[in-house]
Amino acid sequence: MVEATVEQKYNFDVVRWFTVMAVVYLVVGALVGVYIASELAWPVLNLDNPWLSFGRLRPLHTNAVIFAFGGCVLMATGFYSVQRTCGVRVWSDKMAWFTFWGWNTIIVLAVVTLPLGLTQGKEYAELEWPIDILIAVVWLSFLANFVMTLAVRKTSHIYVSNWFYLGMLVMITYLHVVNSLAIPVGLFTSYSLFSGVQDGMIQWWWGHNAVGFYLTAGFLGIMYYFVPKQANRPVFSYRLSVVHFWALMFGYVWLGPHHLQYTALPDWTGSLGAAVSLAMIIPSWGGAVNGMMTLSGAWDKLRTDYILRFLIISLAFYAMSTFEGPVMSLKTVNALSHYTDWTVGHVHSGALGWVAMVGMGALYHLMTRIWHTEIFSAKLVNLHFWTATIGAVVYIVAMWVSGIMQGLMWRAYDEYGTLAYTFAESVEAMHPYYAMRAIGGMIFLLGAVIMLLNTVLTIRKSVAEGSLRAARAATATA
Ligand code: HEM
Ligand code: HEM
Repeated sequence: MVEATVEQKYNFDVVRWFTVMAVVYLVVGALVGVYIASELAWPVLNLDNPWLSFGRLRPLHTNAVIFAFGGCVLMATGFYSVQRTCGVRVWSDKMAWFTFWGWNTIIVLAVVTLPLGLTQGKEYAELEWPIDILIAVVWLSFLANFVMTLAVRKTSHIYVSNWFYLGMLVMITYLHVVNSLAIPVGLFTSYSLFSGVQDGMIQWWWGHNAVGFYLTAGFLGIMYYFVPKQANRPVFSYRLSVVHFWALMFGYVWLGPHHLQYTALPDWTGSLGAAVSLAMIIPSWGGAVNGMMTLSGAWDKLRTDYILRFLIISLAFYAMSTFEGPVMSLKTVNALSHYTDWTVGHVHSGALGWVAMVGMGALYHLMTRIWHTEIFSAKLVNLHFWTATIGAVVYIVAMWVSGIMQGLMWRAYDEYGTLAYTFAESVEAMHPYYAMRAIGGMIFLLGAVIMLLNTVLTIRKSVAEGSLRAARAATATA
């Protein structure tokens, strides 16, 4: 009997396009990050041009790294792993391409509207209402296709990575829709349906869950598929992964108020948010240990397998940021950390260390499978690993020192009970750390450029060897 090859059986074309775009957006997002970090260190870089001002480029950075890079990683890996674990082609090719083109159109619209200053002013939900509607439609196409692929699967049970993707898909749909409810008064102007403190609460219910479901649950889906695959071992404890899943699903939705400590929000909500945040250490660390212990008995692989290094170090950062976050949610700690660079340091230990590292490791793994060849240069993967790690650590350390110093300077009193430092003095004290952060960012960006180069060369290698063509044409007999 003639059996279809993987290329005939599955839709890898859409995965290839999402993979390429993810790497491109990583470079763009990190480049804008380096630019805005440099603006904070050397304000002259604003060039007196509103389009290039920090206020307009900052949301461009967050949208580029979270939605453009992160989104394409989630879609590339999601479409790939759901097909592989279900043993069937994606339910609808047309819908998958709609998701690809729709998502990229949204990114282009973001690149145009944000520097123009067209924004709703809600963090991680800046885009104006017509784009919000498009996001909902495109996201639903991803959700529907994913669910239908699961429905027509050939395997008996649904592998745990799919549960994590599914959790993200469902939760992000309703979080995005509710948080975006607004009354349009023009093509690019609208007013939130909520007002005052309710608006704040809804915004941070979305804000934290963008972190909890999109940047965490979705990327854990990646971890549960790609770590065992790259290590070539089963996940350490399947039972633990299921507990991890349900604990995250039920826990994360309560954390939003920890972003609004000491505000007009009722005090008890902040306490509740902090209590559940603390409890989240347990499943988060359980998951991190589960991923790392998948390597149990095969730690030596880390010496030679550079892709695995990305995946395993990302888990160390995941553990670190999910310990730091709960600590920062406590009111006494938050009184010091809030409004300071400590938050920015925490964000990037999660974003650079966890999200980007696990994403980049998964993309490297994917490349070998979808272009049917080895990575062009393993040495460059190793170089990328070290630049990314060193860049991330320099960034995070700079922000920790700067943030804690900022917090301490703002609350210092002299013997007469007046503030010991002016605000300008605290800004001046930040300068060396802002320069250090910009340098850390540049090192991280260098790694991203190396990755882009390695990706292009791997694709060219595959073309030169004719591996993809051969994989498409070949028929295996069973
Ligand atoms: C070269 C790498 C990067 C550099 C230099 C960089 C730099 C920056 C800077 C300067 C800010 C503004 C901080 C402020 O307002 O004081 C920022 C914010 C942010 N960045 Fe990055 N970034 C980088 C990569 C990333 C990546 C890969 C992600 C996500 C996957 C990310 C996610 C964020 C988020 C969520 C914020 C908002 C933080 C907040 O509101 O507290 N960044 N980044
Ligand atoms: C159990 C896990 C976590 C908890 C309890 C937690 C808690 C916190 C807290 C308390 C803040 C500061 C709120 C403020 O003072 O404004 C914060 C900010 C943030 N965290 Fe986490 N965190 C966790 C994990 C993560 C991870 C894994 C990421 C990954 C990227 C992340 C990304 C962020 C972002 C982007 C912000 C900044 C929000 C903003 O102000 O714009 N967190 N988190």
